[in-house]
Amino acid sequence: MTGLPPARAPGRYAVALVCLGNICRSPMADVVLSDRVAAAGLADRVTVESCGTGDWHLGGRMDHRAAATLTTAGYDASRHRAQQLDGSWAERFDVLLAMDESNLAGIRSVTAGVEGAGERAMLFRAFDPVDPGGEVPDPYYGGDSGFEEVLTMVERTTDAIVAALVVELALELGSTDARGSDRA
Ligand code: 4NP
Repeated sequence: MTGLPPARAPGRYAVALVCLGNICRSPMADVVLSDRVAAAGLADRVTVESCGTGDWHLGGRMDHRAAATLTTAGYDASRHRAQQLDGSWAERFDVLLAMDESNLAGIRSVTAGVEGAGERAMLFRAFDPVDPGGEVPDPYYGGDSGFEEVLTMVERTTDAIVAALVVELALELGSTDARGSDRA
């Protein structure tokens, strides 16, 4: 199983989800991961936020098609406001998960001056159990089916990320249960 970078503070973990505009893919992943983290009883230990590498939609709500797709599936899409990535995100978050290769390159560029940031940037779908290492395609210029496809990828990948969070938090607390052996 793909692992997360080690937490910097014992027993706590902060996840940033990053796309281009922060109105479609990373907000959808933010809502789903926040929901799953709460359902797993980890809300007081795991922080989830999202941002975009671009600034076009700063402070704005989610794309209406992204929000509709989430709402139909039973999630609350109302709280999102778009944020933009800057170097501080690499200091505040234990992992920065990019929706596509271009977003990953953007993270590496913006956080290049922060020590250790390179090891904290990964593709979101590194955790996808069906097709690991792929990209979450940008649905912004397409039709509604693109948003359904994003939600399907996001939900299955999020389940694997929550499993990885459980492992990482258990390791940080010194448990040997999660992997059968402690981190050396
Ligand atoms: P996102 O999609 O990166 O998944 O939020 C996009 C949203 C807006 C734009 C591009 C992609 N845009 O060019 O405004």
